[in-house]
Amino acid sequence: MGKYIIAIIILSFLGCSCTSTRKEKLDNSEKIYKEPYRPQFHFTPETHWMNDPNGMVYYEGEYHLFYQYHPESSVWGPMHWGHAVSKDLVHWEHLPIALYPDSLGYIFSGSAVMDYENTSGFGSKDKPAMVAIYTYHNMEGEKAGRNDFQSQGIAYSLDKGRTWTKYEKNPVLKNPGIRDFRDPKVIWHKESKKWIMTLAVQDHTSFYSSKNLIDWTFESDFGKEFGSHGGVWECPDLFPINVEGTDEEKWILIVSIGAGGPNGGSTTQYFVGDFNGKEFVSIGNDTKWLDYGRDNYAGVTWSNVPEEDGRVLFIGWMSNWQYATVVPTYKWRSANTFPRELVLKKEDNNYHLNSVPVKELELIREECYIIPNQDIKGNFDVTNTIPFKAIPLEIDLEIAWDEQPQKFGVKLSNSAGEELEAFYSGVNESFTIDRTKLKNISFSDVFASIDKAKISCKTGIKLQILIDESSIEVFVNDGELVMTDQFFSAEKFDKIDVVSSGNNISVKEAKFYKLKSVW
Ligand code: FRU
Repeated sequence: MGKYIIAIIILSFLGCSCTSTRKEKLDNSEKIYKEPYRPQFHFTPETHWMNDPNGMVYYEGEYHLFYQYHPESSVWGPMHWGHAVSKDLVHWEHLPIALYPDSLGYIFSGSAVMDYENTSGFGSKDKPAMVAIYTYHNMEGEKAGRNDFQSQGIAYSLDKGRTWTKYEKNPVLKNPGIRDFRDPKVIWHKESKKWIMTLAVQDHTSFYSSKNLIDWTFESDFGKEFGSHGGVWECPDLFPINVEGTDEEKWILIVSIGAGGPNGGSTTQYFVGDFNGKEFVSIGNDTKWLDYGRDNYAGVTWSNVPEEDGRVLFIGWMSNWQYATVVPTYKWRSANTFPRELVLKKEDNNYHLNSVPVKELELIREECYIIPNQDIKGNFDVTNTIPFKAIPLEIDLEIAWDEQPQKFGVKLSNSAGEELEAFYSGVNESFTIDRTKLKNISFSDVFASIDKAKISCKTGIKLQILIDESSIEVFVNDGELVMTDQFFSAEKFDKIDVVSSGNNISVKEAKFYKLKSVW
């Protein structure tokens, strides 16, 4: 690798004078957030179990993130809504638990909206209520073998999500006798001036409408004959989005499924179509996957992102029900994906939803090492040329080729002989993450996996790769294909190789950013 000249750009890396409170806070966070496998730039609860992200809403400069939380254990149990806020989607402040179980049940997944017009009467136009809409899961009902143990409840906050009052006449949507009847995602439908709730109902979604978030009317069903049915439908999301760079509006329906993902286990599919306030009509019936990795589930988008921002912002739970409860972290369990922007592309009359990391990623870039443009053949070890410990790391590569290489990608390794590879194969025209060469995989029979997806890159490839202490997220060709996978290496990865074999490749851009911890 000596022959490569490395240009080093040190980005702003300014110290700041610490007041004693800030110092205390730092010392504290160092203890808590330095455990093995603890993500450094992904959201994790300080302690205990987390699953789905819930109730994401933006209000007065804060992105709220609620989440399925069991505050007494690092496995799933009585569900609460944990709570955190961020001003930039990257640095998070933990807040007290927002919603506790009550006599109607555990608090399962759901959404939150700002009721600016005070349709509910819970606030006022000057002081709008933040309203959470969630599923009650009644354990006694389930244990007694009833079918109607899931219903929808609401709660509101008049102090920026800090304290909550549950609506006294909950539930607002009773169960019609269907076992899986959950995860309400509510949006304001401008054209019909109504709230629309999208609900996961066993093998389809149901749409309900309301003028006030309290009284709900059934509108229609979608999905029995559409998409993938490898598992129960969960955590839907419905939102409008413009085709990138145009005024053409389409509606996206996101649906997570508990099993049957393209590489196994729980995963998320989406449909592109139209919605008229009553019915969703899908264009085509092929299954589209939001992410081909094993670890992006139950993700939905933020409500009330300011119009001048205009982005569709998404976050998912970075785990898989196949092994979520046994991954080798004990103080806390589960992280979220890095927040993503969803972008709708249209080519030859086909619509495709791309995901890219939010631009706020720039805030945690610390040092950047650039490998100059050149033609290369074979591997090169990057670690020997960059003076920081490999992880956390962002790798941005833009590569061109005349003939497709047999293989091109990135390999992480360590002195314990472990390897994690993410690479494109020109032979199969596919992208792969291989996490079989890790030593710490015995916690689950299905964790070690070779995750693969078809993609054809005839003239080159663009890769944006985010690597944290126990996760890798790969965005291929500006998020046309995404793969998110966790890994738990027995030792820290400290060596990075850019791997290529077969034909020559030409480096158009190769940047390695050291990323700062957000904790
Ligand atoms: C998805 C899910 C949701 C449910 C929640 C319970 O992971 O099963 O359908 O509301 O988790 O924690």
